[in-house]
Amino acid sequence: MPEPAQAANDESGDILLEVRNLKKYFPIEKGFFRSVQGYVKAVDDVSFTIREGETFGLVGESGSGKTTLGRCIVRAIESTDGQIFFRLPDGESVDLASLEKSDLRNVRKYFHMIFQDPYSSLDPRMSVLEIIAEPIRNNKLLSESRQIQDRVRELMDKVGLDIQHLNRYPHAFSGGQRQRIGIARSLAPSPSLIVCDEAVSALDVSIQAQILNLLEDLQEEFNLTFLFIAHDLSVVEHISDRVGVMYVGKLVELADTESLFSNPRHPYSEALLSAVPTTDPEVKMDRIILTGEVANPADPPSGCYFHPRCRYAQDICAQETPPWKEISARHFAACHFAEELELRGVGPER
Ligand SMILES: Nc1ncnc2c1ncn2[C@@H]1O[C@H](COP(=O)(O)OP(=O)(O)OP(=O)(O)O)[C@@H](O)[C@H]1O
Ligand SMILES: [Mg+2]
Repeated sequence: MPEPAQAANDESGDILLEVRNLKKYFPIEKGFFRSVQGYVKAVDDVSFTIREGETFGLVGESGSGKTTLGRCIVRAIESTDGQIFFRLPDGESVDLASLEKSDLRNVRKYFHMIFQDPYSSLDPRMSVLEIIAEPIRNNKLLSESRQIQDRVRELMDKVGLDIQHLNRYPHAFSGGQRQRIGIARSLAPSPSLIVCDEAVSALDVSIQAQILNLLEDLQEEFNLTFLFIAHDLSVVEHISDRVGVMYVGKLVELADTESLFSNPRHPYSEALLSAVPTTDPEVKMDRIILTGEVANPADPPSGCYFHPRCRYAQDICAQETPPWKEISARHFAACHFAEELELRGVGPER
């Protein structure tokens, strides 16, 4: 593993993934000649690490760049700049961002991305057997039909699907079951990293809980590492060891889950947390309404991107980009006043 680049790194435990200064700029093309007019800076200089076996939650409003970051990591899209160091099972580290296509083919089996809509991500013309067997065949992990079927049955059993339903098609399953099929498929090549992008958002609350429990059980059994992207902060709090908060393509805060939820150090995180519902009638809901639009990633404001919406903003916030600082142990934030502000988190009494 290369030397850690910046303070965002947490060196305790074995690091499976290190994202370093990652950028993804989408060109804005106009006119007949498609000349480039500017860039949507969907991911703009993001750095963090994920330890082996850890669940790293990623939150932020719509358009903050979460999916784009996930897609860059699994190399579904090419990043513009930066590195994505990933440790292979044999201990060797590769930079997924710069790996040649031919080499990428050999390492793809070690990471996988699961999406929100379990229906559109499963081919309706393929049976469950074919869906789950596909990555096994593509990666040439097993060749005999008998062995492949046995492996598919084993995976179906692991994710709580009835093995009798091997030859059924996706439409015959409920949303939760379809997400289980997607999870079985992602597990087929024995990956070490799974990027879950809003993996439970489309499901009913009770089904969400079942899928989250399944993910936690599978994590323990197979020593999986998760990058867990979600809007729902209660879900993220439940499942994550650490959480990163994104705003307009940048990480603005990163901390252990408990520390972030009880003691946020960035006004944007405070506002997001104020919308987390409480079940305790004694706890007064005091939601911070974020005024104004999310900044445009093609034309962000000067200084701190959040300053036009920040209720604590001072002159410096419009002038200078706030530095990324470690405010307390393992708790990082990019706000000029991260140390001074008395921000409200959510307590464990909820
Ligand atoms: N292929 C693309 N071409 C141009 N712009 C894109 C493309 N994909 C994403 N974007 C832009 O990049 C920004 C980040 O989008 P992204 O989908 O990563 O956000 P997100 O945090 O996942 O949002 P959501 O919570 O709604 O899923 C947005 O401004 C989006 O419009
Ligand atoms: Mg998204």
